[in-house]
Amino acid sequence: MAANPSVVIDRDTTGPAAPDGTAAGTTTTTTTRITTSTTTAPSTSTTKVKSPILVLGGTGTVGSRIAAQLAASHHPVVIASRSAKSSPSTSASSDSEPNKRANSTEKNENLHRVYFDWLDRSTWSNPFNYISSLTKQQLEKEKSDPRAQPSPYSTTAAEREALAQDSAQREEEQKQAWKIQSVYLIAPPGVMDAAGVMMDFVDFARRLPAPGFEDSTEGEARDGGGVKRFVLQSASCIEPGGPAMGKVHGYFRELGSRGEIEWAVLRPSWFQQNFAVQDNHVQSIRDEGKIYSATGDGKIPWISADDIAAVAVQALTMPVAPNTEFLVLGPELLSYDDIASTLSDVLGKKIVHVDLTSGDLERRHRSFGMPEDYSSMMSALDTGIKYGMENRTNDLVLSVTGVAPKTFREYAESVKHVWQPSGVETVVKPVEVVWTAA
Ligand SMILES: NC(=O)c1ccc[n+]([C@@H]2O[C@H](COP(=O)([O-])OP(=O)(O)OC[C@H]3O[C@@H](n4cnc5c(N)ncnc54)[C@H](OP(=O)(O)O)[C@@H]3O)[C@@H](O)[C@H]2O)c1
Repeated sequence: MAANPSVVIDRDTTGPAAPDGTAAGTTTTTTTRITTSTTTAPSTSTTKVKSPILVLGGTGTVGSRIAAQLAASHHPVVIASRSAKSSPSTSASSDSEPNKRANSTEKNENLHRVYFDWLDRSTWSNPFNYISSLTKQQLEKEKSDPRAQPSPYSTTAAEREALAQDSAQREEEQKQAWKIQSVYLIAPPGVMDAAGVMMDFVDFARRLPAPGFEDSTEGEARDGGGVKRFVLQSASCIEPGGPAMGKVHGYFRELGSRGEIEWAVLRPSWFQQNFAVQDNHVQSIRDEGKIYSATGDGKIPWISADDIAAVAVQALTMPVAPNTEFLVLGPELLSYDDIASTLSDVLGKKIVHVDLTSGDLERRHRSFGMPEDYSSMMSALDTGIKYGMENRTNDLVLSVTGVAPKTFREYAESVKHVWQPSGVETVVKPVEVVWTAA
């Protein structure tokens, strides 16, 4: 029986609300369903194909959660970073807490890892080359499947011609479906001038040639393989056009206004995870019963990396181009004194907040190996918090994802083993996603 492939677009319109949090029920997912059916009988097999998404910094605190959540919803994900080597891992490591939304400890064939270094441009094409070779392999596999071959005995010449056309069309659709359409960008930590490098990467990725046109120098085909959507992780305290990621944010707006890219920028507040993944906090909580800041009694809407990731997933996958920023704030305003008090309850021992001067905090950061310019910026941010810079919250997470954001107490309860003294071996590092090589 001959195969007769067709493509069906399913649109699920039951998703959560719009990014601005004001309107409910916008479309959130699109599934391109490639159905293989026989010419004379109904389909017996259905393959769901979703375009791969590239997560730069996909081994870090937020990136690993984005990757896990996307993979759990059947999106092929390419995790790219310096430690993302192309060999399978079976270890379910982690800071910290189970990523309940995505079940990151589960083996998932949608996760792929590729070596990538922001500071080495020769590695920038790795994720795209990887996906391209995976697509070729997939197409070869399908072509050689005897069930995909028309039988010369049971079809007419006209039918065979139609099938050949279908097959060519399907191949083109597969190539498109397997193109990296969206990229999530997380800056390399500690690099002050990362913005220039990241904007160069955006230009590189949006101008990639179409498959088969790699040697062409101009024309539409030249840019036909380019990434369509870019989603940036910035910070609540950085305005578009401002320093660091603010520059990349401004660049997105500029390109977006000319219709050259689809874009979104996430501006999360301070992460709840900082207390369980950053050495300075982990050690001082565990060994001294102290947390240090220069924030006075300034308040912060602490946000869970799970919730940032959930918003990122929406920004990467929503069918309508977001072309906006998402101010991702946690559900409650807490000072460092409040955090110390919650940790005291959760750990059953007194944790105190030591309020340093900005200069003393800067020296403390440097003692943990933070570069000078970066530690000076970080302590300046604490001064901003002291004077109310972070004193606001919103309902964006609930509006965009349909799920209420986690509280700090919930998070602290889920990772309290990290702050236990001797007896429990504590490995402090970002969540690592378990993945399967292609
Ligand atoms: N922490 C907060 O409270 C907070 C609040 C708001 C905004 N932010 C922003 O969030 C971002 C950090 O996010 P995060 O905490 O999720 O990151 P993270 O855990 O520090 O992870 C950084 C990621 O970048 C990768 N990376 C580092 N250097 C690289 C390089 N040279 N080339 C390629 N990849 C590299 C790392 O993997 P490899 O080491 O394997 O390369 C890792 O996957 C920063 O831009 C920060 O300003 C943080």
